[in-house]
Amino acid sequence: MKFGILGWGKIARTQLAPAILEAGHEIAVVGSREPGAEQIPGLPGVRWRSYEAVLADSEVDAVYIALPNHLHVPWTLRALEARKHVLCEKPMALTVAEVDAVQAAAEQSQRHMQEAFMVRHHPQWHMLRDLPLGALRSVQIGFSYDNRDPANIRNRADLGGGALWDIGCYAVFAGIWLFGREPDHVRLRATNHAQWGTDVHAHGELGWGGDACLQFYVSTQSAAHQGVRVLGERGWAELAVPFNAPARVSVRQCMDGGTSDKATAHELAPVNQYVEMVRAFASTAQEGTATDLSESRAVAQTLVRLRHSAGL
Ligand SMILES: NC(=O)c1ccc[n+]([C@@H]2O[C@H](COP(=O)([O-])OP(=O)(O)OC[C@H]3O[C@@H](n4cnc5c(N)ncnc54)[C@H](OP(=O)(O)O)[C@@H]3O)[C@@H](O)[C@H]2O)c1
Repeated sequence: MKFGILGWGKIARTQLAPAILEAGHEIAVVGSREPGAEQIPGLPGVRWRSYEAVLADSEVDAVYIALPNHLHVPWTLRALEARKHVLCEKPMALTVAEVDAVQAAAEQSQRHMQEAFMVRHHPQWHMLRDLPLGALRSVQIGFSYDNRDPANIRNRADLGGGALWDIGCYAVFAGIWLFGREPDHVRLRATNHAQWGTDVHAHGELGWGGDACLQFYVSTQSAAHQGVRVLGERGWAELAVPFNAPARVSVRQCMDGGTSDKATAHELAPVNQYVEMVRAFASTAQEGTATDLSESRAVAQTLVRLRHSAGL
């Protein structure tokens, strides 16, 4: 498959471009606000173009969108209209109406569209969901980093920045992944940056029924950390690096009331979740599988509910 890329930022350069090549596909063209005249470092023979020219290129089968959050849906819609398959970065949309518009556009163009939640392609998340822990009662998730650059897209409210959109989306994804549906109850407490207006700290709670709860903390101004712990009626398990997983990870599991020192570590075979995501996207697109954005819709709906509960 021949890919065009919109936005030559950090994630496109460091993860997705290498993943597209490693998965055995080609990068035909890279779109940038300021297309350079020179060769693209590391991509010999690949042409720079404007975003519009990427969509107009008849050689391009699929577009990977790595733009700031507020541009995801506008460019996804334009790419679908140009009859390209689309893999778009998370969070795909900032409203539920936008997800519905993309679903309708994908059906209309008969092209495949997916949100680039790479974690769902990592076997550690499949193992976590499948372990016999009994009925789940408590999930605790932390994801934080320290980024104080006012120009960074994460610190720009007008570009869809803030901790909840940037990394809270992973906690919401995890809840829907583990419980299989949207939460019944949501609550968020957030602290906004005085000048930037973005949420820099957010403590959230998602509830299913009366006795299952996911609590999360996400922050753009705390020590870098990530972790997930799941407690069921029979046992618990945890992922040490749940989101930016290195090639080798293990899942720690403990049954029947054991403490941390009694946990078993399941070592997983090395995997690159970005390569797995590109493979899955390309094969579903090539098979002509219809677009199903129900999971992305559930994530967007839950994020919007959380924002409302915090008055964001
Ligand atoms: N799945 C993951 O693991 C993961 C990890 C990190 C980020 N992401 C997502 O990927 C997207 C990009 O993140 P990133 O870290 O790569 O960001 P980044 O380094 O800032 O890159 C974003 C790119 O978007 C383009 N752009 C267009 N309009 C812009 C504007 N008004 N301001 C700034 N840039 C603009 C720029 O490319 P040109 O100048 O070339 O046009 C820029 O390089 C975000 O949606 C983020 O949530 C996903």
